[in-house]
Amino acid sequence: MLTREEALEAVGSVTEAYSADAVQFRDVVVKDRQVSLTVVLASAETKPALESALREALTQAGAEAVHFRFREAQPAQGSGAGSAAANKQPAAESAPVQGHGAGLTSSLLDPESKVEFIAVASGKGGVGKSTVTVNLAVALARKGKRVGIMDADIYGFSVPDMMGIETRPELVNDRVIPIERFGVKVISMGFFVEDNSPIVWRGPMLGKMLRNFFSEIEWGELDYLLLDLPPGTGDVALDVHQIIPQSKEIIVTTPHATAAFVAARAGAMAIKTNHEIIGVVENMAYYKCSKCGEPEYIFGRGGGAKLAESLHADLLAQIPLGQPDNHISEPDFSPSVYKAESETGQLYLELADRVIDRCGK
Ligand SMILES: Nc1ncnc2c1ncn2[C@@H]1O[C@H](COP(=O)(O)OP(=O)(O)OP(=O)(O)O)[C@@H](O)[C@H]1O
Ligand SMILES: [Mg+2]
Repeated sequence: MLTREEALEAVGSVTEAYSADAVQFRDVVVKDRQVSLTVVLASAETKPALESALREALTQAGAEAVHFRFREAQPAQGSGAGSAAANKQPAAESAPVQGHGAGLTSSLLDPESKVEFIAVASGKGGVGKSTVTVNLAVALARKGKRVGIMDADIYGFSVPDMMGIETRPELVNDRVIPIERFGVKVISMGFFVEDNSPIVWRGPMLGKMLRNFFSEIEWGELDYLLLDLPPGTGDVALDVHQIIPQSKEIIVTTPHATAAFVAARAGAMAIKTNHEIIGVVENMAYYKCSKCGEPEYIFGRGGGAKLAESLHADLLAQIPLGQPDNHISEPDFSPSVYKAESETGQLYLELADRVIDRCGK
């Protein structure tokens, strides 16, 4: 067994002689003795020598296959308080999101701000909110939009894992820089807890954390900020309604009648708080038989359309069952992001078109 720590140790031993700014490692994924990582270099000249030394060190540590992505550092990444290599000094250790950030200083919440907020909600858990959030965000980015994801599921964060993010954000001038993956800027509670520990907070703390996600994060210019909400109509959903009254919503359901019935409550909450519902996404809508190509309606049929009708909204997409065809050895591995050219990837691009159309930007 090769652990991620052992892999980091192996690459760290090779780069000991370099300064922290010269070489940084990102997106380090270790699975079944296969290692995939991004190497960010201050200068491309060091690449050939480093590549073979890193490969040798990882092989000696027990890796059977190694896949590198080499990138040159952006000027901004090498400066300021967060310039230490991400793996050596995770931002979590300095607990960047604390205390004084309750004031909403970010331009994102400025009334002049042109950001379109879209909260992705559902009644029931496990229907695919996070999957839809991540893939819609990536699809919007593939359409050339500037997109962010706020993983507002503070207790049950899952976005970093789904997108294959293994690094922690850096701090620059006391501001947290979101992690960029597939062209999408991501922030999640998962970046600020150690070892996947459970989070035990009461309601008011959740709201404070959410506000910090606006005020302490260096989002830069965005066209869309998607919020992945926890299931149901609890504290966080209420906080989102309060903090961003202008937010629009997408409601996710499965085709099962009960899921749609429960999702209607999330929809009703949106309506009550004057959040415009852009539409409904029916996830796990069908399974396409790999032999005959015919759809099979494993979880029932019609829930999405019924929900859309009851909310006077459109059914924006029906996404089939099926995992993305991704493999850890690929340069851009992630467990949950569908490739643009895949059938589901295309459906998400169509969904992105509809969202852009409805948001008028
Ligand atoms: N279309 C799909 N086909 C196959 N698996 C899917 C699909 N959509 C989601 N899943 C899987 O179902 C599980 C639940 O999805 P996801 O985490 O996106 O749901 P959620 O609504 O965000 O859950 P929670 O309420 O816990 O936040 C995950 O393991 C995800 O990979
Ligand atoms: Mg989720």
